[in-house]
Amino acid sequence: MSGPNTSYDPVEVAALAPAAVEEAVDAALAAIAAASSLEELKAVRPAHQGDKSPLALANREIGALPPSAKAEAGKRVGQARGRVAQALTARQGELEAERDERILREETLDVTQRAARRPLGRRHPIELMSERIADLFVGMGWEIAEGPEVEAEWFNFDALNFDADHPARQMQDTFYLEPADAGLVLRTHTSPVQARSLIERGVPLYVAAIGRVFRTDELDATHMPAFHQVEGIAVDEGLTMAHLKGTLDRLATSLFGEGITTRLRPSYFPFTEPSAEMDLRCFVCRGEDPDCRTCKGTGWIEWGGCGMVNRNVLTASGGAPDRYTGFAFGMGIDRALMFRTGVSDMRDMIEGDVRFDAQFGMEI
Ligand code: PHE
Repeated sequence: MSGPNTSYDPVEVAALAPAAVEEAVDAALAAIAAASSLEELKAVRPAHQGDKSPLALANREIGALPPSAKAEAGKRVGQARGRVAQALTARQGELEAERDERILREETLDVTQRAARRPLGRRHPIELMSERIADLFVGMGWEIAEGPEVEAEWFNFDALNFDADHPARQMQDTFYLEPADAGLVLRTHTSPVQARSLIERGVPLYVAAIGRVFRTDELDATHMPAFHQVEGIAVDEGLTMAHLKGTLDRLATSLFGEGITTRLRPSYFPFTEPSAEMDLRCFVCRGEDPDCRTCKGTGWIEWGGCGMVNRNVLTASGGAPDRYTGFAFGMGIDRALMFRTGVSDMRDMIEGDVRFDAQFGMEI
């Protein structure tokens, strides 16, 4: 660039010609208008407003003009640059507003919208009741044992003094496993744990066992082919029916509350002698309604079997029947849940509907 030159005609400086300036402005405005994002607009800036943009270059030429021409050229270029700057600012503002609007829209949060709820599973009431029963016996110093659901016929029947032709062995009660000569059954009661505990632990002995048992019953409102029992066996010196009754009353009170009335009724089991059924006072009519459908007017509901451990069982399992006596019991847990909840159809218990579990799961 040369210094001031008085003979210099501004019209001859191409970059400063009004048409060139106008053209530069038009190009800038078109590019600015065409920028559809802030990034694009940023790219437009250097080309039309930067040091090497046509208008900046034109501006530089002004210094070389004769003083008489400077004013006019300066005004023209200055206005042109002003228009470009203004257009940039305006477009910048528009694009920022658009961006803010888009972010607000995309990140909208409806704090009043209902949160998606995933229903929680619940523990099954049978399981909770089983735990409560186990806790009760542990609290009394008993041990908890388990036995297999697929049981040796010997433990399920022979060790418990069942004759070879006892009707409970027949196919109509017992699920036998194949092959037929394997001697395996699905246990029909938890009593085989009595024999197992006697053999494994010896006497004296205080053991409770909770578990599933199986019988070939049709599923209906009061029968299930698979149900639950709590078995107890205590063998020690000097145990009597009074200890049995006291233990079962304690169990009944813990499950059904103070004031529950129980009774023992003579019965028969091959593995206890004497044997009894334990009944609970009907929780619906309390023995006052001869037409009660729950107890069928008897005033009592059967809960399970019990008795003094038969000498033969003690002998078969290595106990010393002359020194020790024992009592045993097997109570229905599903029945207990029916009493507690007033559920009259056992099938509700096994349908796996979480609403049942939620309603009848016991407090812990
Ligand atoms: N096992 C017997 C039943 O299932 C109940 C029972 C257990 C009876 C222990 C006496 C002693 O019916």
